[in-house]
Amino acid sequence: MKIFLDTADVEEIRQAADMGLVDGVTTNPSLVAKAGRVYREVVEEIVEIVDGPISAEVIGEMAPAMVAEARELAKIHKNIVVKIPMTPEGLKAVKICKAEGIPTNVTLVFQPLQGLLAAKAGAAYVSPFVGRLDDVCQDGMEMVAELGTMLRNYDYDTEIIVASVRHPLHVAQSAIMGADIVTVPMKVFRQMFNHPLTDKGIQAFLDDYQKIPKA
Ligand code: E4P
Repeated sequence: MKIFLDTADVEEIRQAADMGLVDGVTTNPSLVAKAGRVYREVVEEIVEIVDGPISAEVIGEMAPAMVAEARELAKIHKNIVVKIPMTPEGLKAVKICKAEGIPTNVTLVFQPLQGLLAAKAGAAYVSPFVGRLDDVCQDGMEMVAELGTMLRNYDYDTEIIVASVRHPLHVAQSAIMGADIVTVPMKVFRQMFNHPLTDKGIQAFLDDYQKIPKA
């Protein structure tokens, strides 16, 4: 399973990329606002750090505006994936982008038929938001499983990016069900490394090492 980082914090991306475990990055306007940075500048920096798909989102609401933004974003780097919201206008834009060779990531997917339509329109990626569904008492991972079945039934090559991830259990469940990609905030990325028994075990080995007679 590929792991993307879900952040616009360039320092965080640098730290995680140093570990060699980051396959791509997803951003959105809220994440860039949180970073307090100019959107284009952040994206220009990220593409230099991670050699993989980097999602950058459009703001326009009508297809022609979205396509114009997509063309500008795609000029930044060959790895740019244009993130387009799941609306009828968005899917019109996806189809045009596909014809022009611009890969897209359809975002804000909350039910499997939205993902099926995105795949049909030619999206390279589709992003179901699991955490936001859990927040309103709907099972986000169940929706991912249904979407996965639909895409497999018809051999779409659209990849699922499990998004809006809140905790490591979302990541584990994604891997068990065979999701292509999970995009994680840095906090969850760090949590994936941890287990208290690992820390306890390391400490015990260090303590016992001190008891070994030195030559
Ligand atoms: C990524 O593509 C999404 O924009 C992001 O995961 C949304 O996460 P949130 O629900 O925590 O804002």
